[in-house]
Amino acid sequence: MENKELIFDSNIDKLIESADLTREAPTEEPYRQYWFMKKARELTEEKSRELNRRLTFCVNTFGCQMNARDSEKLVGVLERIGYVEAPDENADFVIYNTCTVRENANLRVYGRLGYLHSLKKKNPHMMIGLCGCMMQEPQVVEKLKKSYSFVNLIFGTHNIYKFAELVVAALTNNRMVIDIWKDTDKIVEDLPSERKYPFKSGVNIMFGCNNFCSYCIVPYVRGRERSRNPKDIIREIEHLVADGVVEVMLLGQNVNSYGKNLEEPMTFAQLLQEIEKIEGLERIRFMTSHPKDLSDELIEVMKNSKKICRHLHLPLQSGSSEILKKMNRKYDKEQYLNLVERIRKAMPDISLTTDIIVGFPGETEEDFLETVDVVEKVRYDSAFTFIYSKRTGTPAAAMENQIPEDVVKDRFDRLLARVQEIGRSMSARYTGTVQEVLVEEQNSQDTHLMTGRLSNNLVVHFEGDTSLIGKLCQVRLDECRGFYYMGTKVG
Ligand code: SAH
Ligand code: SF4
Ligand code: F3S
Repeated sequence: MENKELIFDSNIDKLIESADLTREAPTEEPYRQYWFMKKARELTEEKSRELNRRLTFCVNTFGCQMNARDSEKLVGVLERIGYVEAPDENADFVIYNTCTVRENANLRVYGRLGYLHSLKKKNPHMMIGLCGCMMQEPQVVEKLKKSYSFVNLIFGTHNIYKFAELVVAALTNNRMVIDIWKDTDKIVEDLPSERKYPFKSGVNIMFGCNNFCSYCIVPYVRGRERSRNPKDIIREIEHLVADGVVEVMLLGQNVNSYGKNLEEPMTFAQLLQEIEKIEGLERIRFMTSHPKDLSDELIEVMKNSKKICRHLHLPLQSGSSEILKKMNRKYDKEQYLNLVERIRKAMPDISLTTDIIVGFPGETEEDFLETVDVVEKVRYDSAFTFIYSKRTGTPAAAMENQIPEDVVKDRFDRLLARVQEIGRSMSARYTGTVQEVLVEEQNSQDTHLMTGRLSNNLVVHFEGDTSLIGKLCQVRLDECRGFYYMGTKVG
Protein backbone atom coordinates (compact mmCIF):
# COMPACT_ATOMS: atom_id res chain seq x y z
CA MET A 1 0.00 0.00 0.00
CA GLU A 2 1.34 3.43 -0.95
CA ASN A 3 1.94 6.07 1.69
CA LYS A 4 -1.39 7.91 1.77
CA GLU A 5 0.32 11.20 2.64
CA LEU A 6 2.09 11.24 -0.69
CA ILE A 7 -0.80 10.80 -3.07
CA PHE A 8 -1.36 14.23 -4.59
CA ASP A 9 -1.04 15.90 -8.00
CA SER A 10 2.54 15.24 -9.06
CA ASN A 11 2.34 11.95 -7.20
CA ILE A 12 -0.90 11.11 -8.96
CA ASP A 13 0.95 11.73 -12.24
CA LYS A 14 3.66 9.30 -11.13
CA LEU A 15 1.09 6.71 -10.14
CA ILE A 16 -0.67 7.01 -13.50
CA GLU A 17 2.73 6.65 -15.19
CA SER A 18 3.54 3.52 -13.23
CA ALA A 19 0.26 1.76 -14.12
CA ASP A 20 1.06 -1.47 -15.94
CA LEU A 21 -1.08 -1.75 -19.08
CA THR A 22 0.32 -5.18 -19.91
CA ARG A 23 -1.69 -6.47 -16.96
CA GLU A 24 -5.38 -6.24 -16.30
CA ALA A 25 -6.74 -3.15 -14.56
CA PRO A 26 -6.39 -3.43 -10.76
CA THR A 27 -9.64 -3.84 -8.84
CA GLU A 28 -8.71 -1.50 -6.00
CA GLU A 29 -9.60 2.21 -6.23
CA PRO A 30 -8.20 4.72 -7.00
CA TYR A 31 -5.48 2.57 -8.64
CA ARG A 32 -7.99 1.17 -11.06
CA GLN A 33 -8.74 4.68 -12.31
CA TYR A 34 -5.03 5.54 -12.61
CA TRP A 35 -4.73 2.50 -14.89
CA PHE A 36 -7.64 3.71 -17.03
CA MET A 37 -6.20 7.24 -17.19
CA LYS A 38 -3.05 5.80 -18.70
CA LYS A 39 -5.08 3.64 -21.05
CA ALA A 40 -7.21 6.61 -22.13
CA ARG A 41 -4.06 8.64 -22.78
CA GLU A 42 -2.81 5.95 -25.14
CA LEU A 43 -6.08 6.13 -27.04
CA THR A 44 -6.16 9.93 -27.26
CA GLU A 45 -2.50 10.11 -28.31
CA GLU A 46 -3.29 7.79 -31.18
CA LYS A 47 -6.26 9.91 -32.22
CA SER A 48 -4.26 13.09 -31.86
CA ARG A 49 -1.51 11.72 -34.17
CA GLU A 50 -4.15 10.73 -36.68
CA LEU A 51 -5.66 14.24 -36.69
CA ASN A 52 -2.30 15.93 -36.33
CA ARG A 53 -3.53 18.28 -33.56
CA ARG A 54 -4.24 18.31 -29.85
CA LEU A 55 -7.66 17.04 -28.82
CA THR A 56 -9.82 19.56 -27.00
CA PHE A 57 -12.53 19.42 -24.33
CA CYS A 58 -15.29 21.60 -22.95
CA VAL A 59 -17.06 20.91 -19.67
CA ASN A 60 -20.29 22.86 -19.24
CA THR A 61 -21.65 22.94 -15.70
CA PHE A 62 -25.26 23.52 -14.63
CA GLY A 63 -26.53 23.72 -11.07
CA CYS A 64 -24.90 24.15 -7.70
CA GLN A 65 -21.40 24.24 -6.24
CA MET A 66 -21.43 20.46 -5.82
CA ASN A 67 -21.66 20.17 -9.57
CA ALA A 68 -19.00 22.84 -10.04
CA ARG A 69 -16.64 20.84 -7.83
CA ASP A 70 -17.51 17.61 -9.66
CA SER A 71 -16.68 19.34 -12.94
CA GLU A 72 -13.22 20.21 -11.62
CA LYS A 73 -12.73 16.49 -11.09
CA LEU A 74 -13.81 15.76 -14.67
CA VAL A 75 -11.38 18.40 -15.95
CA GLY A 76 -8.61 16.93 -13.79
CA VAL A 77 -9.05 13.60 -15.56
CA LEU A 78 -9.50 15.06 -19.06
CA GLU A 79 -6.29 17.06 -18.77
CA ARG A 80 -4.39 14.06 -17.55
CA ILE A 81 -5.51 11.94 -20.45
CA GLY A 82 -4.32 14.45 -23.04
CA TYR A 83 -7.17 16.85 -23.77
CA VAL A 84 -6.66 20.62 -23.67
CA GLU A 85 -9.44 23.03 -22.76
CA ALA A 86 -11.33 24.64 -25.65
CA PRO A 87 -12.84 28.13 -25.36
CA ASP A 88 -16.31 26.85 -26.31
CA GLU A 89 -18.33 23.77 -27.20
CA ASN A 90 -16.66 23.42 -30.57
CA ALA A 91 -14.45 20.70 -29.07
CA ASP A 92 -13.57 17.01 -29.38
CA PHE A 93 -15.09 16.05 -26.04
CA VAL A 94 -18.03 18.03 -24.71
CA ILE A 95 -19.48 17.19 -21.33
CA TYR A 96 -22.63 18.60 -19.79
CA ASN A 97 -22.72 18.21 -16.02
CA THR A 98 -26.44 18.63 -15.50
CA CYS A 99 -28.83 19.83 -12.78
CA THR A 100 -32.47 18.91 -12.35
CA VAL A 101 -33.48 20.83 -9.23
CA ARG A 102 -36.00 22.87 -11.25
CA GLU A 103 -37.55 22.05 -14.57
CA ASN A 104 -35.94 24.95 -16.43
CA ALA A 105 -32.44 23.65 -15.57
CA ASN A 106 -33.54 20.45 -17.21
CA LEU A 107 -35.05 22.04 -20.32
CA ARG A 108 -31.91 24.07 -20.98
CA VAL A 109 -29.93 20.86 -21.45
CA TYR A 110 -32.30 19.47 -24.09
CA GLY A 111 -32.14 22.82 -25.85
CA ARG A 112 -28.33 22.79 -25.94
CA LEU A 113 -28.17 19.19 -27.15
CA GLY A 114 -29.69 20.17 -30.50
CA TYR A 115 -26.84 22.63 -30.97
CA LEU A 116 -24.25 20.00 -30.01
CA HIS A 117 -25.70 17.66 -32.60
CA SER A 118 -25.09 20.26 -35.31
CA LEU A 119 -21.45 20.60 -34.16
CA LYS A 120 -21.01 16.86 -34.16
CA LYS A 121 -22.15 16.61 -37.76
CA LYS A 122 -19.19 18.84 -38.67
CA ASN A 123 -16.71 17.02 -36.42
CA PRO A 124 -17.30 13.25 -36.51
CA HIS A 125 -14.59 12.75 -33.86
CA MET A 126 -16.60 14.71 -31.38
CA MET A 127 -17.59 12.86 -28.19
CA ILE A 128 -20.60 14.02 -26.19
CA GLY A 129 -20.93 13.05 -22.54
CA LEU A 130 -23.79 13.77 -20.13
CA CYS A 131 -23.56 13.38 -16.38
CA GLY A 132 -24.87 14.88 -13.15
CA CYS A 133 -28.18 14.93 -11.38
CA MET A 134 -30.50 14.84 -14.38
CA MET A 135 -29.01 11.51 -15.48
CA GLN A 136 -30.19 9.91 -12.24
CA GLU A 137 -33.77 10.20 -13.48
CA PRO A 138 -34.77 7.06 -15.40
CA GLN A 139 -37.22 8.91 -17.68
CA VAL A 140 -34.44 11.27 -18.77
CA VAL A 141 -32.17 8.41 -19.80
CA GLU A 142 -35.06 6.77 -21.67
CA LYS A 143 -35.67 9.97 -23.60
CA LEU A 144 -31.97 10.35 -24.44
CA LYS A 145 -31.76 6.75 -25.65
CA LYS A 146 -34.74 7.28 -27.88
CA SER A 147 -34.23 10.71 -29.32
CA TYR A 148 -30.59 11.70 -28.72
CA SER A 149 -28.68 8.64 -29.92
CA PHE A 150 -25.71 10.80 -30.96
CA VAL A 151 -24.70 11.10 -27.29
CA ASN A 152 -21.67 8.86 -26.57
CA LEU A 153 -21.57 8.62 -22.79
CA ILE A 154 -24.11 8.92 -19.99
CA PHE A 155 -23.25 8.48 -16.32
CA GLY A 156 -24.66 9.60 -12.99
CA THR A 157 -23.63 11.26 -9.75
CA HIS A 158 -22.59 8.13 -7.83
CA ASN A 159 -19.99 6.78 -10.25
CA ILE A 160 -18.29 9.98 -11.33
CA TYR A 161 -15.10 8.65 -9.69
CA LYS A 162 -14.85 6.07 -12.51
CA PHE A 163 -14.90 8.72 -15.22
CA ALA A 164 -11.55 7.57 -16.67
CA GLU A 165 -12.87 4.04 -17.01
CA LEU A 166 -16.05 5.32 -18.68
CA VAL A 167 -14.05 7.46 -21.11
CA VAL A 168 -12.10 4.38 -22.19
CA ALA A 169 -15.38 2.52 -22.69
CA ALA A 170 -16.80 5.38 -24.76
CA LEU A 171 -13.64 5.79 -26.86
CA THR A 172 -13.58 2.11 -27.73
CA ASN A 173 -17.31 1.72 -28.41
CA ASN A 174 -19.51 2.82 -31.25
CA ARG A 175 -22.70 2.72 -29.26
CA MET A 176 -23.94 4.87 -26.42
CA VAL A 177 -22.24 3.90 -23.12
CA ILE A 178 -24.63 4.23 -20.17
CA ASP A 179 -23.68 3.64 -16.53
CA ILE A 180 -26.04 4.87 -13.82
CA TRP A 181 -26.11 3.66 -10.21
CA LYS A 182 -29.12 3.98 -7.95
CA ASP A 183 -27.07 4.83 -4.87
CA THR A 184 -23.69 4.21 -3.32
CA ASP A 185 -21.98 4.11 0.05
CA LYS A 186 -18.58 4.48 -1.56
CA ILE A 187 -16.30 7.53 -1.44
CA VAL A 188 -13.14 7.27 -3.54
CA GLU A 189 -10.31 9.58 -2.46
CA ASP A 190 -7.17 10.79 -4.23
CA LEU A 191 -8.45 11.42 -7.70
CA PRO A 192 -7.12 14.35 -9.67
CA SER A 193 -8.97 17.65 -9.97
CA GLU A 194 -8.21 20.92 -11.72
CA ARG A 195 -9.23 24.03 -9.78
CA LYS A 196 -10.89 26.91 -11.52
CA TYR A 197 -9.22 29.43 -9.19
CA PRO A 198 -5.67 28.98 -7.89
CA PHE A 199 -6.41 30.67 -4.55
CA LYS A 200 -9.78 29.25 -3.53
CA SER A 201 -11.42 25.89 -3.73
CA GLY A 202 -14.56 23.98 -2.91
CA VAL A 203 -14.06 20.95 -0.68
CA ASN A 204 -16.73 18.28 -0.39
CA ILE A 205 -17.26 17.29 3.21
CA MET A 206 -20.32 15.15 2.58
CA PHE A 207 -22.40 13.81 -0.24
CA GLY A 208 -26.12 13.15 -0.63
CA CYS A 209 -29.06 14.25 1.49
CA ASN A 210 -31.43 12.50 3.90
CA ASN A 211 -33.91 15.30 4.43
CA PHE A 212 -36.48 14.69 1.73
CA CYS A 213 -37.97 18.16 1.74
CA SER A 214 -41.21 17.38 -0.07
CA TYR A 215 -40.51 19.59 -3.13
CA CYS A 216 -36.92 18.54 -3.66
CA ILE A 217 -35.42 16.02 -6.03
CA VAL A 218 -31.88 16.19 -4.68
CA PRO A 219 -32.16 13.20 -2.26
CA TYR A 220 -33.35 11.06 -5.17
CA VAL A 221 -30.52 12.01 -7.49
CA ARG A 222 -27.68 12.41 -4.99
CA GLY A 223 -28.47 9.46 -2.75
CA ARG A 224 -28.14 9.06 1.01
CA GLU A 225 -25.99 11.23 3.20
CA ARG A 226 -22.32 10.17 3.46
CA SER A 227 -19.67 12.15 5.31
CA ARG A 228 -16.06 12.11 4.27
CA ASN A 229 -13.54 11.05 6.84
CA PRO A 230 -12.22 14.15 8.69
CA LYS A 231 -8.63 13.00 8.06
CA ASP A 232 -9.23 12.97 4.31
CA ILE A 233 -10.79 16.43 4.42
CA ILE A 234 -7.92 17.91 6.45
CA ARG A 235 -5.35 16.22 4.23
CA GLU A 236 -7.01 17.64 1.12
CA ILE A 237 -7.13 21.16 2.56
CA GLU A 238 -3.51 20.98 3.72
CA HIS A 239 -2.53 20.02 0.24
CA LEU A 240 -4.63 22.81 -1.27
CA VAL A 241 -3.00 25.35 1.06
CA ALA A 242 0.46 24.09 0.08
CA ASP A 243 -0.67 24.69 -3.50
CA GLY A 244 -1.65 28.34 -2.91
CA VAL A 245 -5.24 28.12 -1.69
CA VAL A 246 -6.20 30.60 1.04
CA GLU A 247 -9.98 30.14 1.09
CA VAL A 248 -12.03 26.95 1.15
CA MET A 249 -15.76 26.48 0.73
CA LEU A 250 -16.90 23.35 2.55
CA LEU A 251 -19.66 21.73 0.54
CA GLY A 252 -22.63 19.61 1.53
CA GLN A 253 -26.42 19.70 1.10
CA ASN A 254 -26.74 20.00 4.85
CA VAL A 255 -23.33 20.61 6.41
CA ASN A 256 -24.88 20.89 9.87
CA SER A 257 -25.49 17.18 9.95
CA TYR A 258 -21.88 16.38 9.03
CA GLY A 259 -20.29 13.42 10.76
CA LYS A 260 -23.40 11.77 12.18
CA ASN A 261 -22.78 8.47 10.45
CA LEU A 262 -19.01 8.35 10.69
CA GLU A 263 -17.45 5.40 12.51
CA GLU A 264 -16.29 7.91 15.10
CA PRO A 265 -19.06 10.52 15.01
CA MET A 266 -18.00 14.16 14.93
CA THR A 267 -20.00 17.38 14.70
CA PHE A 268 -19.64 19.98 11.97
CA ALA A 269 -18.50 22.48 14.61
CA GLN A 270 -15.72 20.10 15.66
CA LEU A 271 -14.65 19.64 12.06
CA LEU A 272 -14.49 23.44 11.65
CA GLN A 273 -12.24 23.70 14.68
CA GLU A 274 -9.85 21.18 13.17
CA ILE A 275 -9.84 23.01 9.84
CA GLU A 276 -9.23 26.32 11.61
CA LYS A 277 -5.90 24.95 12.85
CA ILE A 278 -4.50 24.52 9.34
CA GLU A 279 -1.68 27.01 8.99
CA GLY A 280 -1.77 29.23 5.94
CA LEU A 281 -5.49 28.80 5.46
CA GLU A 282 -7.06 32.24 5.82
CA ARG A 283 -10.79 31.87 5.17
CA ILE A 284 -13.40 29.18 5.66
CA ARG A 285 -16.86 29.25 4.09
CA PHE A 286 -19.51 26.58 4.00
CA MET A 287 -22.73 25.70 2.20
CA THR A 288 -25.52 24.84 2.93
CA SER A 289 -26.78 25.08 6.48
CA HIS A 290 -30.17 23.56 7.18
CA PRO A 291 -31.80 25.66 9.94
CA LYS A 292 -33.14 22.57 11.73
CA ASP A 293 -29.61 21.32 12.47
CA LEU A 294 -27.79 24.57 13.20
CA SER A 295 -26.44 24.12 16.71
CA ASP A 296 -25.46 26.59 19.42
CA GLU A 297 -22.09 24.87 19.34
CA LEU A 298 -21.69 26.02 15.71
CA ILE A 299 -22.69 29.59 16.55
CA GLU A 300 -20.11 29.61 19.35
CA VAL A 301 -17.37 28.23 17.11
CA MET A 302 -18.17 30.75 14.38
CA LYS A 303 -18.17 33.59 16.87
CA ASN A 304 -14.74 32.69 18.21
CA SER A 305 -13.19 31.87 14.87
CA LYS A 306 -10.69 34.10 13.08
CA LYS A 307 -11.11 32.28 9.79
CA ILE A 308 -14.78 31.42 9.38
CA CYS A 309 -16.35 34.06 7.20
CA ARG A 310 -19.07 36.35 8.52
CA HIS A 311 -21.70 34.94 6.23
CA LEU A 312 -24.39 32.35 6.70
CA HIS A 313 -26.64 31.02 3.99
CA LEU A 314 -29.72 29.90 5.84
CA PRO A 315 -32.45 28.72 3.46
CA LEU A 316 -35.89 29.73 4.69
CA GLN A 317 -37.99 28.30 1.82
CA SER A 318 -41.19 29.71 3.32
CA GLY A 319 -42.17 31.90 6.25
CA SER A 320 -45.45 30.10 6.84
CA SER A 321 -45.36 27.40 9.51
CA GLU A 322 -48.17 25.61 7.70
CA ILE A 323 -46.25 25.47 4.42
CA LEU A 324 -42.98 24.61 6.19
CA LYS A 325 -44.74 21.59 7.64
CA LYS A 326 -45.94 20.51 4.21
CA MET A 327 -42.44 21.07 2.92
CA ASN A 328 -41.10 18.73 5.61
CA ARG A 329 -38.55 21.34 6.71
CA LYS A 330 -38.85 20.40 10.42
CA TYR A 331 -38.82 23.99 11.76
CA ASP A 332 -41.52 26.62 11.97
CA LYS A 333 -41.52 30.37 11.55
CA GLU A 334 -40.93 30.99 15.25
CA GLN A 335 -37.99 28.62 15.49
CA TYR A 336 -36.39 30.12 12.41
CA LEU A 337 -36.70 33.68 13.73
CA ASN A 338 -35.43 32.57 17.11
CA LEU A 339 -32.40 30.98 15.46
CA VAL A 340 -31.68 34.19 13.54
CA GLU A 341 -31.88 36.13 16.77
CA ARG A 342 -29.34 33.85 18.46
CA ILE A 343 -26.99 34.15 15.47
CA ARG A 344 -27.27 37.94 15.31
CA LYS A 345 -26.77 38.25 19.05
CA ALA A 346 -23.52 36.31 18.86
CA MET A 347 -22.34 37.96 15.61
CA PRO A 348 -24.05 41.33 15.01
CA ASP A 349 -22.04 41.97 11.85
CA ILE A 350 -22.95 38.68 10.15
CA SER A 351 -24.44 38.71 6.70
CA LEU A 352 -27.42 36.42 6.22
CA THR A 353 -28.62 35.14 2.86
CA THR A 354 -31.37 32.70 2.00
CA ASP A 355 -33.37 30.65 -0.53
CA ILE A 356 -37.13 31.09 -0.84
CA ILE A 357 -39.67 29.14 -2.85
CA VAL A 358 -42.85 30.90 -3.99
CA GLY A 359 -45.98 29.03 -5.00
CA PHE A 360 -45.58 25.75 -3.14
CA PRO A 361 -48.85 23.71 -3.45
CA GLY A 362 -51.53 25.11 -1.17
CA GLU A 363 -49.72 28.42 -0.53
CA THR A 364 -52.35 31.06 0.27
CA GLU A 365 -51.91 34.82 0.17
CA GLU A 366 -51.66 34.70 3.99
CA ASP A 367 -48.87 32.09 3.78
CA PHE A 368 -47.08 34.26 1.26
CA LEU A 369 -47.38 37.31 3.53
CA GLU A 370 -45.77 35.27 6.33
CA THR A 371 -42.78 34.80 4.04
CA VAL A 372 -42.62 38.55 3.36
CA ASP A 373 -42.87 39.10 7.12
CA VAL A 374 -39.81 36.92 7.78
CA VAL A 375 -37.91 38.71 5.01
CA GLU A 376 -38.71 42.01 6.67
CA LYS A 377 -37.80 40.80 10.14
CA VAL A 378 -34.55 39.07 9.21
CA ARG A 379 -33.40 41.63 6.62
CA TYR A 380 -31.29 39.38 4.41
CA ASP A 381 -28.29 40.76 2.55
CA SER A 382 -29.56 38.86 -0.44
CA ALA A 383 -31.96 36.06 -1.24
CA PHE A 384 -32.38 33.60 -4.07
CA THR A 385 -36.06 33.46 -4.88
CA PHE A 386 -37.46 30.56 -6.86
CA ILE A 387 -40.79 29.78 -8.41
CA TYR A 388 -41.91 26.35 -7.21
CA SER A 389 -41.17 23.74 -9.83
CA LYS A 390 -42.98 20.41 -9.81
CA ARG A 391 -40.48 17.55 -9.75
CA THR A 392 -41.76 14.11 -10.72
CA GLY A 393 -41.48 11.58 -7.92
CA THR A 394 -41.42 14.09 -5.05
CA PRO A 395 -44.34 14.13 -2.57
CA ALA A 396 -45.21 17.77 -3.40
CA ALA A 397 -45.76 16.92 -7.07
CA ALA A 398 -48.75 14.81 -6.03
CA MET A 399 -50.21 17.43 -3.68
CA GLU A 400 -53.52 19.05 -4.48
CA ASN A 401 -53.89 22.76 -4.91
CA GLN A 402 -51.01 23.52 -7.24
CA ILE A 403 -50.98 27.33 -7.53
CA PRO A 404 -51.89 28.98 -10.86
CA GLU A 405 -48.99 30.53 -12.73
CA ASP A 406 -50.29 34.11 -12.73
CA VAL A 407 -50.78 34.08 -8.95
CA VAL A 408 -47.27 32.72 -8.39
CA LYS A 409 -45.74 35.22 -10.79
CA ASP A 410 -47.43 38.11 -8.99
CA ARG A 411 -46.20 36.89 -5.58
CA PHE A 412 -42.74 36.28 -6.97
CA ASP A 413 -42.48 39.84 -8.32
CA ARG A 414 -43.67 41.34 -5.05
CA LEU A 415 -41.23 39.25 -3.03
CA LEU A 416 -38.32 40.02 -5.30
CA ALA A 417 -38.95 43.77 -5.09
CA ARG A 418 -38.96 43.61 -1.28
CA VAL A 419 -35.91 41.36 -1.08
CA GLN A 420 -33.93 43.68 -3.36
CA GLU A 421 -34.94 46.82 -1.54
CA ILE A 422 -33.87 45.36 1.81
CA GLY A 423 -30.73 43.82 0.28
CA ARG A 424 -29.63 47.21 -1.03
CA SER A 425 -29.95 48.91 2.31
CA MET A 426 -28.31 46.00 4.15
CA SER A 427 -25.39 45.91 1.73
CA ALA A 428 -24.79 49.63 2.21
CA ARG A 429 -24.34 49.31 5.98
CA TYR A 430 -20.56 48.89 5.72
CA THR A 431 -19.99 52.09 3.71
CA GLY A 432 -16.97 54.01 4.99
CA THR A 433 -15.41 51.07 6.82
CA VAL A 434 -12.10 49.40 5.97
CA GLN A 435 -12.45 45.68 5.36
CA GLU A 436 -10.21 42.78 4.49
CA VAL A 437 -10.86 41.50 0.98
CA LEU A 438 -9.60 38.53 -0.96
CA VAL A 439 -8.69 39.80 -4.43
CA GLU A 440 -10.24 37.47 -6.97
CA GLU A 441 -9.90 38.87 -10.47
CA GLN A 442 -9.36 41.76 -12.79
CA ASN A 443 -12.55 43.61 -13.68
CA SER A 444 -13.53 42.58 -17.19
CA GLN A 445 -14.98 45.97 -18.11
CA ASP A 446 -12.29 48.20 -16.62
CA THR A 447 -8.86 46.58 -16.38
CA HIS A 448 -7.60 49.22 -13.91
CA LEU A 449 -10.00 47.76 -11.40
CA MET A 450 -9.61 44.62 -9.35
CA THR A 451 -12.50 42.71 -7.83
CA GLY A 452 -12.32 41.42 -4.30
CA ARG A 453 -14.66 39.70 -1.90
CA LEU A 454 -15.38 40.65 1.69
CA SER A 455 -15.67 38.12 4.47
CA ASN A 456 -19.45 38.64 4.29
CA ASN A 457 -19.36 37.67 0.59
CA LEU A 458 -20.03 41.16 -0.82
CA VAL A 459 -17.95 42.28 -3.77
CA VAL A 460 -15.82 45.43 -4.02
CA HIS A 461 -14.09 46.95 -7.04
CA PHE A 462 -10.98 49.05 -6.47
CA GLU A 463 -7.92 50.28 -8.31
CA GLY A 464 -5.07 47.79 -8.37
CA ASP A 465 -3.14 45.37 -10.51
CA THR A 466 -3.16 41.65 -11.21
CA SER A 467 -0.27 40.99 -8.81
CA LEU A 468 -2.88 41.27 -6.04
CA ILE A 469 -4.94 38.30 -7.24
CA GLY A 470 -5.21 35.67 -4.55
CA LYS A 471 -3.97 38.08 -1.84
CA LEU A 472 -5.81 39.53 1.13
CA CYS A 473 -5.69 43.29 1.41
CA GLN A 474 -7.38 46.15 3.23
CA VAL A 475 -9.89 48.15 1.23
CA ARG A 476 -11.97 51.14 2.26
CA LEU A 477 -15.56 50.84 1.07
CA ASP A 478 -16.24 54.28 -0.40
CA GLU A 479 -19.58 53.84 -2.08
CA CYS A 480 -22.23 51.15 -2.24
CA ARG A 481 -23.85 50.70 -5.63
CA GLY A 482 -26.71 48.35 -4.97
CA PHE A 483 -25.11 44.98 -4.32
CA TYR A 484 -21.43 45.87 -4.67
CA TYR A 485 -18.99 48.52 -3.50
CA MET A 486 -16.47 50.83 -5.07
CA GLY A 487 -13.47 51.13 -2.80
CA THR A 488 -9.86 52.22 -2.32
CA LYS A 489 -6.98 50.01 -1.27
CA VAL A 490 -5.36 51.24 1.92
CA GLY A 491 -1.97 50.45 3.47
N1 SAH B 1 -29.54 21.59 0.37
C1 SAH B 1 -29.85 22.93 0.20
C2 SAH B 1 -30.57 23.28 -1.08
C3 SAH B 1 -30.17 22.69 -2.38
S1 SAH B 1 -31.22 23.12 -3.71
C4 SAH B 1 -30.77 23.34 1.34
O1 SAH B 1 -31.53 22.58 1.84
O2 SAH B 1 -30.74 24.48 1.65
C5 SAH B 1 -31.12 24.88 -3.72
C6 SAH B 1 -32.43 25.58 -3.59
O3 SAH B 1 -33.27 25.25 -4.67
C7 SAH B 1 -33.26 25.19 -2.38
O4 SAH B 1 -32.84 25.83 -1.24
C8 SAH B 1 -34.64 25.58 -2.79
O5 SAH B 1 -34.93 26.90 -2.44
C9 SAH B 1 -34.60 25.48 -4.29
N2 SAH B 1 -35.42 24.35 -4.76
C10 SAH B 1 -35.24 23.05 -4.52
N3 SAH B 1 -36.24 22.34 -5.09
C11 SAH B 1 -37.05 23.21 -5.72
C12 SAH B 1 -38.25 23.10 -6.47
N4 SAH B 1 -38.82 21.94 -6.69
N5 SAH B 1 -38.82 24.23 -6.97
C13 SAH B 1 -38.24 25.44 -6.75
N6 SAH B 1 -37.12 25.60 -6.04
C14 SAH B 1 -36.52 24.51 -5.52
FE1 SF4 C 1 -33.28 19.34 -0.98
FE2 SF4 C 1 -34.04 19.67 1.51
FE3 SF4 C 1 -31.96 18.11 0.98
FE4 SF4 C 1 -31.76 20.73 0.67
S1 SF4 C 1 -32.09 19.65 2.61
S2 SF4 C 1 -31.07 19.17 -0.75
S3 SF4 C 1 -33.78 21.29 -0.02
S4 SF4 C 1 -34.06 17.74 0.41
FE1 F3S D 1 -28.85 20.73 -9.16
FE2 F3S D 1 -27.88 18.47 -8.40
FE3 F3S D 1 -27.02 20.66 -7.31
S1 F3S D 1 -30.00 18.84 -8.89
S2 F3S D 1 -28.75 22.01 -7.42
S3 F3S D 1 -26.78 20.11 -9.40
S4 F3S D 1 -27.25 18.70 -6.32
